[in-house]
Amino acid sequence: PQDLISPRFSALTPYEQASRMVESNIRHAGSVLLGPVPDNAGLAAALDMTPEGIIEAVEASGLRGCGGAGFSAGKKWRLAGATPAGRRYIICDADEGEPGTFKDRVLLTERPHLLVEGMTIAAKAVGASEGIIYLRGEYAYLEGLLAAVLEERRIEGLLGRAVMGQEGFDFDIRIQMGAGAYVCGAESALISSCEGRPGEPMTRPPFPVEKGYFGCPTVVNNVETLCHAARILDRGAQWFFDMGQAGSHGTKLFSVSGDCLNPGVYELPYGMTVHALLEMAGGEDAAAVLVGGPSGTMIGRDSFERRLSFDDLATGGAVVIFGRERNILEIVDYYMSFFVDESCGYCTPCRVGNVFLQQAIAKFRKGLAGPEDIDYLKDLSATIMETSRCGLGMTSPRPILTTLENFPLVYSALVKPSEDRLRPTFDIQSA
Ligand code: NAI
Repeated sequence: PQDLISPRFSALTPYEQASRMVESNIRHAGSVLLGPVPDNAGLAAALDMTPEGIIEAVEASGLRGCGGAGFSAGKKWRLAGATPAGRRYIICDADEGEPGTFKDRVLLTERPHLLVEGMTIAAKAVGASEGIIYLRGEYAYLEGLLAAVLEERRIEGLLGRAVMGQEGFDFDIRIQMGAGAYVCGAESALISSCEGRPGEPMTRPPFPVEKGYFGCPTVVNNVETLCHAARILDRGAQWFFDMGQAGSHGTKLFSVSGDCLNPGVYELPYGMTVHALLEMAGGEDAAAVLVGGPSGTMIGRDSFERRLSFDDLATGGAVVIFGRERNILEIVDYYMSFFVDESCGYCTPCRVGNVFLQQAIAKFRKGLAGPEDIDYLKDLSATIMETSRCGLGMTSPRPILTTLENFPLVYSALVKPSEDRLRPTFDIQSA
């Protein structure tokens, strides 16, 4: 809140000011990421360890990727470190673009040193000498802040040649600006963009740990994952492992928005129920909650006791709350417009399929859909998910599929027998 009246705050545009006001509503459980954290304690500990020791600690902590996919962070580092000797890179994916997610922006603003510390630890673990922060185009106003942090750390010997005086460990970081494309949050498109090529996704495998930035082994980690890694090296793997629940250890940052009294960023241990989060946010009256953004799952009131975890309700962090007055199909249509807009257009299933899905949703909304249209939605969604080239098409039908599953009445109530569908909606004679 103090920041809201600082000269730095007044210099921001109204959009940026609004963003910061949401950020100022930060709630956290203890000193994991958003509470008080010591400077560089994790890095100091890591530099006393072997790369194998660092990787073992991250593996033992149970840390999983916080961008949404939940791949084991320790395993990713191990695979990159085991590649033949040569150049290796650490890339921080700071291109969070999932509608409803803004938690990485808070970390970039409030904990930039912790992020760079985590990247430096990752570099030591896998033997990388260069890192890149790929910053979302819409976060351009943070570029100066991050550049200043990097410069400060170079001056303090925390980046550059012989990090913290350790001969043989050189590591530096540059910032690469994104240009506002959602698809560039997908790691292969992000790497292409860093290389100066169009941000189009590539087919995987090979995964970046084997063949990434300019063909070299590359670790791509989300902002939050790297911040957690720094805290794990400081406090120990067991400390992190003991928080949360089986399969989902530690804390998670949730970006809470929508129809609630207290939107903001909440840091909570994994395993919390949706209901508990709604209570904290003042959104108990919700009719629906989109957990994990449109790539995630839309749930209704009968599922509010489900737990936020990788095994039950995985989330990159977005929790969007919808009140009773909202129209579910309008929400679905909105998110499908987003995917149609953001498809890079490379592969047909995603480029064309998402348009067809949106047209089918329009048919329901106009009362022109029949029972066969429900099957059509399911079949086309399955085809798009199975045949798309990257994560965008592999998840874009989820707003439709998860509402079909959890809100079936919304669709079935609009389905009409064919004779009703063909009847004009007004009387031509009297018109
Ligand atoms: P993925 O599951 O294919 O991969 C996740 C990570 O694990 C990647 O870094 C990948 O390189 C690595 N990986 C997976 N299998 C591997 C293997 N066999 N060997 C080595 N490395 C391996 O998921 P993807 O496509 O990278 O991301 C999709 C996720 O991103 C979805 O869960 C979606 O919710 C989330 N997402 C998040 C957004 C955000 O703004 N945070 C935006 C859009 C999507």
